[in-house]
Formats: sequence, structure tokens, C-alpha cells
Amino acid sequence: MDSIRIQGRIALQGKVRIQGSKNASLPVLAATILTGDVSVIRNCPRIADVHSMVSLLKSLGCSVHWQEKGLVIDSSQVRRDEMPEDAVTGMRSSLCLLGALIGRCREVIMEHPGGCVIGERPIDLHLSALKQMGVEFTEKGNKLMARVSGLHGTKICLPFPSVGATENIVLAGVMADGDTILEGAALEPEISALCRYLCCCGACIEGQGTGRLVIHGGRKLRGTEYTVPADRIVAGTYLFGCIGVGGCVLLEQAPGKEMAAVLNTAEQMGGHVYCTPEGIYVQAPIRPAPIRIVTKPYPGFPTDLQSVALAVETMGRGCSRIDEAIFENRFRILEDLDKMGADTCQKDSHSVLIRGVEMLHGASVCAKELRGGAALVVAGLMAEGETVVSGCSYIYRGYENICRDFRELGARVVSV
Ligand code: UD1
Repeated sequence: MDSIRIQGRIALQGKVRIQGSKNASLPVLAATILTGDVSVIRNCPRIADVHSMVSLLKSLGCSVHWQEKGLVIDSSQVRRDEMPEDAVTGMRSSLCLLGALIGRCREVIMEHPGGCVIGERPIDLHLSALKQMGVEFTEKGNKLMARVSGLHGTKICLPFPSVGATENIVLAGVMADGDTILEGAALEPEISALCRYLCCCGACIEGQGTGRLVIHGGRKLRGTEYTVPADRIVAGTYLFGCIGVGGCVLLEQAPGKEMAAVLNTAEQMGGHVYCTPEGIYVQAPIRPAPIRIVTKPYPGFPTDLQSVALAVETMGRGCSRIDEAIFENRFRILEDLDKMGADTCQKDSHSVLIRGVEMLHGASVCAKELRGGAALVVAGLMAEGETVVSGCSYIYRGYENICRDFRELGARVVSV
């Protein structure tokens, strides 16, 4: 089931429920290690990255199982074992286990984490912040060894609001002696989601949702029940999907408040968007108006939705420009879009011009990373004829069931 077959040109209608957030659930799952107790994580998406995180937690001695009410994790028996190499290198979010294990065990040996191939993705900001908290690192080949005897709070200034580094500082900070004052923290809603979980467990973190977090360390944590918020990136994928394909849909439970930049772009494309307590209603324009996007840290336009916006604009009413300011290798879908009849021109590793064409046509294309793969599915829905997207294991890392969701909206799409 590594491919998705799509018959395009069917306008989307109806409603679809938005799954729990990948980027919120993975750090929360890592954080369960800190409690040494039982946590129940509700609305956790059943995606490949969550399954990988579950394997990692089990390899560390946690007992983990799915129940109807959610994922139940007992971290009372955590060991300091080395984690399976595949699970660490296959998923960037394994990096949050660094902060969590330093907090719990004071010692970690892990591979350099992987994730989608979208640029170099260094971890210098993580290492430098943790060093300031007393952690010593040694690197041997691809292996990273961390050890700390006196984990202590301190003042840390991040030169760039890295999401992953902020998460690691929070995870280590709640277990450190004293206060950690973090200036330049990432503002992404997934950071607040992690802080909310930790505070439910007994931690004290001030300044949530701002660039200055004060983490009061050293409190005893306990397990809790927690509900993962809806996935703003999945909601954005389906929202732009509707604008590209046409139609009118309700994205149930979509977190409209966290999607201001995305909704603004959708309106610039000519979509009508209404946020209600039920979710987001979207009505597509006849053909999208051209746009100019620059990806930015939250609350700017998310890098994770750049590819799908790009796919939509291949059939826009004019010339669009997209600048990718976060990662340097995030236009890997251009070749496949051009194969479908798109007219794109990459100026450099950070910017692309898109001249809208009247119609895309179906083709055999190949997903090379998670969000780019989802964008190819959207392009297939927009195109005349049949599109087959191979390499879909990337897509299943982040989307529970993209075929089922688009079928709920009337699309003809199956995994094969
Ligand atoms: C990034 C996105 C996040 C998205 C996730 C998954 C931003 C700011 N972050 O988070 O919204 O959900 O990808 O696709 O949009 N960097 C360093 N050194 C470090 C860490 C990061 O130079 O130690 C650089 C990266 O190379 C990159 C930028 O900072 O250019 C963003 O990194 P960061 O926010 O840490 O990335 P993720 O946590 O993966």
C-alpha cells in the first residue's frame, strides 16, 4: 500500500474531522518519561511517527498500549538503554527524547536524529542550550552521548526560535534545579501544548505562548490525562486542497485560532473562510488568485504548508512567488508538478516562481518527503485524469488516512 491512485477534477463537498496534531503529540509522548507514572494521551493520531515514538518508549522500558480512550503510557520502569537506531534516525522528533532522557536519567546515548530530507537540520542550538544547563556532550561518528551530574536552570537566549530546541530546553528545564529563563523561545502552538501537558503533571512554566518562558524546575511530576489538540497542518492541507480542487467543505475541529496566516493566504487566493465553534468552513474560488508567500516561524506562514500552497498555485490565475525561509531543500516536488504540466521556475534553493496553467494532467509521481507528498495528492485531485503517487510511506508519517479523509469529501482516491 505504498501508492495512492487519484481520479482528479471532482469538487470537494461535505465535512471531515481533523486528526490530533503530530507535532504536538510527539513531544508530549517524550515528556511522559519525566513523570515516572501513568499518563493517558487522548486524540493521539495513529500515524507512523507516533508508532515509531511508541517503539522508542517501549525500548526504554515504558509500557505503552492503545485503549479506546487514548494511548496509555506507564514510564515507571524507564531504563538507560540505547534506543533502536532505525527509530531514532527515521524521525526528527526522536530528538525530544534527548531533553526528556537528560531530565529523567541524566545520561543519554542516541544516534543523530533524522526526519524528512528537507535541508541540513543541524542541532547546534539544542546542544549549546543544554550545555549551558550543565550537560556534557561527546560525539562518536553518528552517535551522541550526553551526561550531566548537576542539571541546573540558567538564562538561555536562543538566536533563532527553534521549535525543537525550545522543546528540549522545556523538557530538561522542568527537571533541573532552579529556574530556566528562556528568551527567544519558539511561539508555535505545539510548544504551548507541551507546556500545558507538563503543567497538568505538576510543572510550573510561566509565559506560555510568548517568547520568554520561565521554567521553574525541580517539581515532582505525576501522570495525567491529556487531550492532544487538532492538527493545524492537516487542517491547512485539506483547506488548500479544497481551494485547489474546488467545492465547499467543513473542517471539523480545525484550530482556526492557530491558523491566522494560513486563513489569510486562503482568502488572498479568493477562498471564503469562516471560523465557527464547529471548525472552519471553506468555499473555493473558481480559480485561485496568485499569491506571494514567505515562510516564517509562527505566527507566520508555516513551512509545513508551503508545498501544498505551491501545488494549488500551479493552477492559479497568474504568477505566484514562494520564498522558503526556514529550510533550504523544500522544493523537491517541482519536478513532479512539472511532469503534471505545471510551469514552475526555481530561482535558488529558497525561492520559486509559479505561472498558473489552465489545467494539470494526471501522471505517475513520487513522494520524497511528508508534506511534499501530501501536496502531490492535492495536485492529483486538481488534475485531469489519473495520478498515481508512489512513496506514500512518507505521507503516512503525518496523515492518519489521507485517502479516507478526501473520500469523505467526495474525492475518488484509494491507496493501492
Ligand atoms: C520545524 C518548523 C516547525 C515544523 C517542523 C516540522 C519552524 C521555525 N520550525 O521545526 O514549525 O513543524 O520543522 O517540519 O518553522 N536550526 C539550526 N540549529 C538548530 C536547530 C535548528 O540551525 O539547532 C535551524 C534549522 O536548520 C532550520 C531552522 O533553524 O533552518 C528551523 O529549525 P527548528 O524550528 O528547530 O526545526 P524543527 O524543530 O524541525
